[in-house]
Amino acid sequence: MSDDARTQLRAHLQFYADLGITGFSREAAWTAPPGVGAPSGEPALPTIPVPDHPHVAVALQVDGPRFGSLDELRTHIGPQCTRCKLCTLGRTQVVFGVGNPSADLMFVGEAPGSDEDVQGIPFVGRAGQLLTKIIEAIEMRREDVYIANVIKCRPPGNRNPEPDEVATCEPFLFRQIDLVKPRVIVALGKFAAQSLLRTDTPITKLRGQVHPFRGAQLVPTFHPAYLLRSPDKKRETWEDMKLVRSLLRGEGR
Ligand code: URA
Ligand code: URA
Repeated sequence: MSDDARTQLRAHLQFYADLGITGFSREAAWTAPPGVGAPSGEPALPTIPVPDHPHVAVALQVDGPRFGSLDELRTHIGPQCTRCKLCTLGRTQVVFGVGNPSADLMFVGEAPGSDEDVQGIPFVGRAGQLLTKIIEAIEMRREDVYIANVIKCRPPGNRNPEPDEVATCEPFLFRQIDLVKPRVIVALGKFAAQSLLRTDTPITKLRGQVHPFRGAQLVPTFHPAYLLRSPDKKRETWEDMKLVRSLLRGEGR
């Protein structure tokens, strides 16, 4: 590693140490074994790509502020977080997450869009309305599931989240996952799936498969915004949701 990379890595780790986080692993799916770091084997552990050095990924073991509930975590983040540059790029508010705090099923999208930015709730625009129908297609209600995004502030012009934004915000998603403890996670679209699974395998290859992730079974599928543009992909999405339903029924793979 160059001196420059080393300096940046040190600064980055210091940022997490300031949040009370110690310990790291390269594995995104890793959770602390019982007795290690967190009391009673409490899962803890965000993995983050180091900004500008995506080859250096560290999973962080939380050993400081303990967020006993989603409300505590939401309060910690605050409605007007300034931890990344998106706070200066026109976002209105943090869009934390919504739904059943002990849901068996969790959906993870990419980032808030303009409707979400105004309302402070994920997936409330056109794509969100389609997501609600997708949830209802497996005989569940939107209130039964938990919904969040990889990053919690709207990127300008709906561009993709940038690596430093993901690195800063993703640990909060990981804490949400560890608090909700869903049995099944649906990663919505290419960005969420590739970002969570630390891969550049195309979404067409990732979808329809079960990927172990932080104690859950993660199933990638197409993003509802993509389905609005490519309605012919709804058939595969329905296949993915049938798989999700069978996993929830314990007919797992
Ligand atoms: N697209 C996303 O990825 N997330 C939202 O919350 C809304 C649209
Ligand atoms: N491209 C995306 O960004 N998401 C999808 O779900 C499919 C194509």
